[in-house]
Amino acid sequence: MDGNGRWAKQRGKERYEGHIAGVESVRSSVKAAVRNGVEWLTLYAFSTENWGRPAAEVDAIMALFCKTVMGEAKELRDQGVRVKIMGERSRFSEEVLKMINYIEQTTADAERLTLVLAFNYSSRREITLGVQDIARRIAEGTLKVDDIDEQTISDSLMTAQMPDPDMIIRTSGECRLSNFLLWQSSYAEFYFPDTLWPDFTEEEFDKAIEVFAKRDRRYGLVTETKE
Ligand code: IPE
Ligand code: MG
Repeated sequence: MDGNGRWAKQRGKERYEGHIAGVESVRSSVKAAVRNGVEWLTLYAFSTENWGRPAAEVDAIMALFCKTVMGEAKELRDQGVRVKIMGERSRFSEEVLKMINYIEQTTADAERLTLVLAFNYSSRREITLGVQDIARRIAEGTLKVDDIDEQTISDSLMTAQMPDPDMIIRTSGECRLSNFLLWQSSYAEFYFPDTLWPDFTEEEFDKAIEVFAKRDRRYGLVTETKE
């Protein structure tokens, strides 16, 4: 979800107003995902690196997270949306932790769409923690070095219970991953619309689905040619 700050600046507003406007695009994307039969939607809401932004902006994002969770949890549950927060929790305030528990518990039984919010997430940190976990199991003698396979590594990540992403969308025209799902995106389709996140509507989401449907996914193989 990129481009909130630029969206605000273009309108002579403060950056945090762009984040507030971005919440509407979260609603639209969730709606469009449910309507299109998408079962997993992961939104990169706050990276580990984002703590380095000015304190006022970080505080505004944390406050917006709490307010949005409070206001949307029941509505999300009623739409069939189960919410999971993915990221390191040790740095969050009591209030944020309370809201994380609240939304995860409120929506736990919903079954149409799992909405994963990557919040204080970074993929290198995730991989580092996974490697520590694997090393610990080897040291304890519960895992053998030669038994480590791709599944062992996938299972050691924060995404252990999730499928790999089929498509990664980054708005605002930036063409980089910025520490998002590095291991998991090996065969993801990438899509970089110029649209700034607050302008990302249901129609924009539908367009992404159309783009995805036209991609030829070969996974390193060759396309079958019919005689
Ligand atoms: C994305 O918008 C939202 C977060 C990272 C929280 P930005 O805040 O990165 O917006 P730009 O890139 O400055 O326009
Ligand atoms: Mg940005």
